[in-house]
Amino acid sequence: MKHLIDPMDLSKEELDQIIGLAQDIISNREKYQDLLSHRKLATLFYEPSTRTRLSFTSAMMELGGNVLGFSDAKSSSVSKGETVQDTVRVVGCFADVIAMRHHIEGAQLYASEVSKVPIINAGDGSHSHPTQTLTDLLTIQRELGHIDGITIGFCGDLKFGRTVHSLIKALSRYKDVKVILIAPDELKLPDYIKHDVCDRLGVKYCEVSTMEEVMPQLDVLYMTRVQQERFLDLEEFDRVKDSFVLDCQKLSGAKEKMAILHPLPRVNEILTEVDDDPRAAYFRQVENGKFVRMALITKLLEWKDDPLHAMPETDAPETDPTLRCSNGKCICNNENAQHKFRRTDNGTLRCWYCDSKIK
Ligand code: NCD
Repeated sequence: MKHLIDPMDLSKEELDQIIGLAQDIISNREKYQDLLSHRKLATLFYEPSTRTRLSFTSAMMELGGNVLGFSDAKSSSVSKGETVQDTVRVVGCFADVIAMRHHIEGAQLYASEVSKVPIINAGDGSHSHPTQTLTDLLTIQRELGHIDGITIGFCGDLKFGRTVHSLIKALSRYKDVKVILIAPDELKLPDYIKHDVCDRLGVKYCEVSTMEEVMPQLDVLYMTRVQQERFLDLEEFDRVKDSFVLDCQKLSGAKEKMAILHPLPRVNEILTEVDDDPRAAYFRQVENGKFVRMALITKLLEWKDDPLHAMPETDAPETDPTLRCSNGKCICNNENAQHKFRRTDNGTLRCWYCDSKIK
């Protein structure tokens, strides 16, 4: 069964097909208006969302399909203690495809192990957000005309920002991309992305401490919000919350054709004075999210049982009763998921579900 849990579940060819279809949908809206009539999407949102949930809903409606689901887990049987695996088993009887957002990392991967319909990860904790990645890729393609060869600066909360983690992974599928990481020490990119993704897959990256020093090099500036809800220590949040703020003055050294992206919502990291700059692409990016989700839902329904589009092959997970994942926000510490591990090329053991290092 084809699911989209992690950006690497899509090959370069599959990424190209989804982005290509999204572009065709943009140019030929009417052609697609009844494509998925009688098909149903379930949106299971265990965590707040405006854009992602509404763009899935709007995407399915524009394809002539129907949508059911919940936007507040308290109104579902979750409040009675139902597991995510049981919930998707049940919802798979009512819907052809499921988009799920969860505050627990690895919840969608765990759910996909038993689902009989494709699961789309619409964000799991601070781990991954592959449909925002598709949105970002389509936006870069439309704004700049290419993704290969770009220099992209990621600025803000690179530790908890799941959209950053997923986009960097997907950029490893493109040629000659250079990543510049702009974050305070407390919010630096997790090691597993630096080592398992950038080093292993050959994405060049460097770390700097101000956006001004790299601004003239950037083709894309990817701003992010500091993720207050993921901090365990609120004093630390207060120390870093205003680390990077983009204003018109800072843009003065930027390329004329640079694109400013932000997954939104923004808090104060981009002043509203920037919104009128032609390089500010973040509201266009929101609309691209709908088109790319239309393409994704269409393709997943087409690919779901096609062996040519199977999930990528991985080594079988390792288990060891003496070892446990120490991430309290991982599914294996929240439901009775077995603690399973994968071993990276350099021998490090990581949690199967959330990628935390096993000590
Ligand atoms: C992001 C998310 O939920 O991770 N928003 C989104 O889906 N567009 C970014 C964020 O919440 O900061």
